[in-house]
Amino acid sequence: MTSASEQTLKRIVSGMRPTGKMHLGHYHGVLKNWVRLQHEYECFIFVADWHALTTEYETPAVVAASVNDMVIDWLAAGLNPKQACIFVQSQVPEHAELHLLLSMLTPLSWLERVPTYKDQQEKLKSKDLSTYGFLGYPLLQSADILAYKAHQVPVGEDQVAHVELTREVARRFNHLYGKEPDFKEKAEAAITRLGKKNAKQYKEMRRQYQEEGNAEALQAGRAMLAANQNLTLADRERLYGYLEGSGKIIFPEPQALLTEASKMPGLDGQKMSKSYGNTLTLRDSVADVDKKIRTMPTDPARVRRTDPGNPEKCPVWEFHKIYSDSSTRDSIIQGCHQASIGCLDCKQPVIDAIVRELQPMRERAQEYESNPGLVRSILQEGNEAARAVARDTLQEVRQAMGLEYR
Ligand code: TRP
Ligand code: SF4
Repeated sequence: MTSASEQTLKRIVSGMRPTGKMHLGHYHGVLKNWVRLQHEYECFIFVADWHALTTEYETPAVVAASVNDMVIDWLAAGLNPKQACIFVQSQVPEHAELHLLLSMLTPLSWLERVPTYKDQQEKLKSKDLSTYGFLGYPLLQSADILAYKAHQVPVGEDQVAHVELTREVARRFNHLYGKEPDFKEKAEAAITRLGKKNAKQYKEMRRQYQEEGNAEALQAGRAMLAANQNLTLADRERLYGYLEGSGKIIFPEPQALLTEASKMPGLDGQKMSKSYGNTLTLRDSVADVDKKIRTMPTDPARVRRTDPGNPEKCPVWEFHKIYSDSSTRDSIIQGCHQASIGCLDCKQPVIDAIVRELQPMRERAQEYESNPGLVRSILQEGNEAARAVARDTLQEVRQAMGLEYR
């Protein structure tokens, strides 16, 4: 996953708290998106077990027991360890070190004003969340992201504020530690190492941006640096910073890549969620799916087969919106209103579609279930690959902060 061609791909980091077996809501909300992104980006996807502990610290065993099942379902859904680095947060201790170092420069007020902080405390009243770890959890997320210098972070609406915090922390870090006493000299020396033609171009683009505010020149300058294979990492950071008039840019500011919320309904018409007990899991058998859909509630007006109904009042209809084409949907609207079809007739195409969707996932999951060593080795490799990248970042961070005592 680190072949030369892929190194120039933009990088993504995303994590999920271990909650055990995944359901169709996870699949349509997050997993399908990851599976798509793994072909377009260099992806680091991890099990956020430390994040889970910020709220589940009283029952850590439950968290630990969920990791394997969740990863099996990621793989079943189509995440490919050859395309994406899949790992477990707590196995990459660099996240914790970076979290600690970032905590030194992060104003308390930045954390207190993250909307999820008060929201979640309100929502999860049964838990005591007036802890240090819970307050700091968005900053842990910043460390997750910055350890890999991610360009983009796929998140739902509720997490956008965390990416925003990450940007602010990155900016503050660069501002505080990006300055070297001889920055200008080093940047000028790095320019000469670009080669004559590129050096001239770089200076021109720098002038256009700094004197005329030409944003295209800035973009072009960055692209030129990104494409240059001969620069050392340190020189590249200097030249990025020098281009836009700041110091060394150690952490690029990541962008949120907004993931649309899943429209996956549950079996009872509410949002699909484990806590409502209304899910279809990725490993449900054909018989499970059949039974769950057949026993789904329908429009209560249809007591008898001859009673007309209204799809808008029926949770089964929500599934047709996802799984059926428009001609099937038209005939269902008509058949329901005129009582010319029964609810079981109506449910059958939904059953068929879900069975078809789940079949390859169930098969892949069975392969991993029957071979636990496989998952273990995928994670071991992922942990190592992630560490190799995070270790390099931490090396730079320590150096920037003057913590290199060798
Ligand atoms: N905080 C996210 C959640 O609770 C999970 C998460 C942790 C994450 N670290 C991340 C997501 C880094 C994206 C990037 O859902
Ligand atoms: Fe629902 Fe279909 Fe029955 Fe109408 S026919 S009530 S849409 S299951």
